[in-house]
Amino acid sequence: MSHPDLATLMTVAWEAANSTGEILRENWQEPKTIEYKGAIDLVTSVDRESERKIVAVIRRHFPGHSILAEEETDVQGAQNDYRWIIDPLDGTTNFAHSYPQFCVSIAVEYSGRIILGLVYDPVRRECFKAIIGQGATLDGRPIRTSSANELDKSLLATGFPYDHRENADFYLRYFKAFMTRCQGIRRGGSAALDLCYVACGRLDGFWESKLKPWDTAAGALIVSEAGGKLSDFSGKPFTIWGQETLATNSVIHDENHTKLD
Ligand code: IPD
Ligand code: CA
Ligand code: CA
Repeated sequence: MSHPDLATLMTVAWEAANSTGEILRENWQEPKTIEYKGAIDLVTSVDRESERKIVAVIRRHFPGHSILAEEETDVQGAQNDYRWIIDPLDGTTNFAHSYPQFCVSIAVEYSGRIILGLVYDPVRRECFKAIIGQGATLDGRPIRTSSANELDKSLLATGFPYDHRENADFYLRYFKAFMTRCQGIRRGGSAALDLCYVACGRLDGFWESKLKPWDTAAGALIVSEAGGKLSDFSGKPFTIWGQETLATNSVIHDENHTKLD
């Protein structure tokens, strides 16, 4: 079986993301058809259409690769050492409310390791990319994490999982711990973009519980390739299958996770 080179994989990832960019741009200010996966966990017809477009592009180029996407795709391919991990629309609640902060997130895993990540914000037309060992870029220009050296001077972001009504006190404990120690906290509503904003220095750190592999697979590689650091809340190694995501510019990482412990 042939192995595609990383540049070819990236070209296809971009073709896939771009294939749906137009749909997202045309629809974000229009009325949506909304279904509920839970009381506040929504999905629009555009999430599904976006996923179908992306999956079609990947299958056309790599019919043997496995694909895991949020809404309806979990296929094992004949060449299943390659797996594409996709969030066709990260920031659905924003999208449903015509709030312009959402993206497409596409990652490629090879033998259990993420080797490529691409996050595309179709409204700003910003594209974040990373290939393992080759650094991270925003619209083709190399990016680095910020140099903020203490929480006191940091802008952080977080997100709340879909059980936040039931577990509000638990999530607010973390929020309060940082609120009293940093310059500000943002809740953007797209975890993949939050990670990319850490990567390019717009944010100094980000934390969230219970994210899914498709939320973090691309963004986590983009953060680490930009010089950032990831772990769980107690400083143990980060995995896209875990329950806790802490991403920082690396300088404030230890100070950050001791506040989460
Ligand atoms: C959500 C967003 C949000 C985060 C949620 C995610 P979705 O993804 O990334 O920022 O707080 O935990 O589930 O549902 O919009 O793809
Ligand atoms: Ca998501
Ligand atoms: Ca999604």
